Amino acid sequence: MASASSSHFWLDIVVARAKRKWFVYPWSDIYGWLANSWDYGPYGSLVKKNIADARWQYFVQERDDIYGMDTAILAHPRTWEASGHVSNFGDFLIDDKKTGQRFRPDKLIEDDLEQKRQSLSEEDLLKFLAQTYGVENTVPESWGPDVMLAYMKGESIKNPDTKKDAEWTDIRKFTLMLSTHLGPIEGDASKVWMRPETCQSLFTNFKNILNTTRARIPFGLAQIGKAFRNEITPGQFLYRTREFEQMEIEYFVPNDPEIALKSHQEWRDISLYFWHHIIKLNPDRIRVREHEQDELSHYSSATMDVEYLYPWWWWELQGLAYRGNFDLTQHQQFSGTDMQYHDPKTGKRYVPHVIEPSFGLSRTVMAVFLDCYDEEVIEKNDGSTDTRVVIRFPFALAPVKYAIFPLMEKDEAMMTLARDLFKKLSKKYYCEFDSSGNIGKRYRRQDEIGTPYCLTIDHQSLEDGTITIRDRDTMKQERISIDSLLG
Ligand code: GAP
Repeated sequence: MASASSSHFWLDIVVARAKRKWFVYPWSDIYGWLANSWDYGPYGSLVKKNIADARWQYFVQERDDIYGMDTAILAHPRTWEASGHVSNFGDFLIDDKKTGQRFRPDKLIEDDLEQKRQSLSEEDLLKFLAQTYGVENTVPESWGPDVMLAYMKGESIKNPDTKKDAEWTDIRKFTLMLSTHLGPIEGDASKVWMRPETCQSLFTNFKNILNTTRARIPFGLAQIGKAFRNEITPGQFLYRTREFEQMEIEYFVPNDPEIALKSHQEWRDISLYFWHHIIKLNPDRIRVREHEQDELSHYSSATMDVEYLYPWWWWELQGLAYRGNFDLTQHQQFSGTDMQYHDPKTGKRYVPHVIEPSFGLSRTVMAVFLDCYDEEVIEKNDGSTDTRVVIRFPFALAPVKYAIFPLMEKDEAMMTLARDLFKKLSKKYYCEFDSSGNIGKRYRRQDEIGTPYCLTIDHQSLEDGTITIRDRDTMKQERISIDSLLG
């Protein structure tokens, strides 16, 4: 594992590269940046779309038991009272009385644990935590406010900005919900919440689905959309932002915990297959971590996280919760709508249980960037070395699939053939046309944005209809016919 400073340095490189290469821009940049918010540029928006499409294809299109949805961001406020978010959805906060600054204690402790990992093995760290603070995991959020405060004081955690001793207050909970007002009059009656997760409208539509489709349990509902959280400590690039995208699936199963837990395990395997074979993240950087009992959200009976090994440490990429029938029961109580499923085979009526695979889209973009970014040292013909920046996106995720190069810009026949190829190939794939600079430089430009193939039209192409295709990863070139490419 890289040291903390070198790991952040590595992240800085990737962020700088992402900005320079049209992937991601700081939001409201011309006004001095609304901190920790990002806009996706021409290539970044394509990578994000490709990830969303791959996900949709795998989880919705290729399954006959999952239905896609697209629901509104602003829901009836009662939704969030029923779901428990108004009363429960928050982060712990602590103030430094000396400076008036506010921090998330769990994050300060996580940073301190990361420091300790430089000199302690994971096993020794756990032993130390158990002996000193009576906790059995390295997830401070689950320890509760009293233990976190004891740790902050016991380990003399400093103010991370001033690097000086702090005078810490008690730890309190702060809501993560963002709100706005509908209509011309601002007041409690017009207040609505910006959804902090996309899934609640899948629950509130449950009865509509039963009444209007042929869905039979087990079945799932999926959607991709924006969610908003007033995060106290946004940061680490796209990892934690206040506006982000989720793709959530609610998979409804019988109200039998044994069947539900089996389905939970199946979804673990389905999720891992997705990360390994669809998004193609390095399997050594993916692991599953089961939540401790005291770490579970207010709605969950069992949860696991799929974690990715970011440059600093293992952090969450996807949640996979067994929510029991908490949500449907709550909405049934708050709305008075019967949320029972009538099993046509057994005649039984019950409120189904649900398994929730919850993916962060923005977080996946970041993991894909980190996973695919490479600086490769290559040997040149004269024996000297050079560094090639190459983003090894899987074909399906690459923003540009083919780059088309006429060898000589001045040769009209070559330009015409190249333009014709672009026109035909871009009906199927996102392509780029580049006729400027020498071929070596053009290859490098495409390597830097992760284009899998470069196609060069040269003199021979005019004679026999063949072109060279150059592979991004091996840098090997071979001759193929245009017809075989267009298939
Ligand atoms: N409905 C369950 C739920 O929302 P979560 O673990 O809070 O669970 C699910 O969020 C996923 O959404 C996370 O695994 C992460 O990928 C993404 N996510 C959550 N908060 C985020 C944030 N502030 N910025 C970016 N992605 C976030």
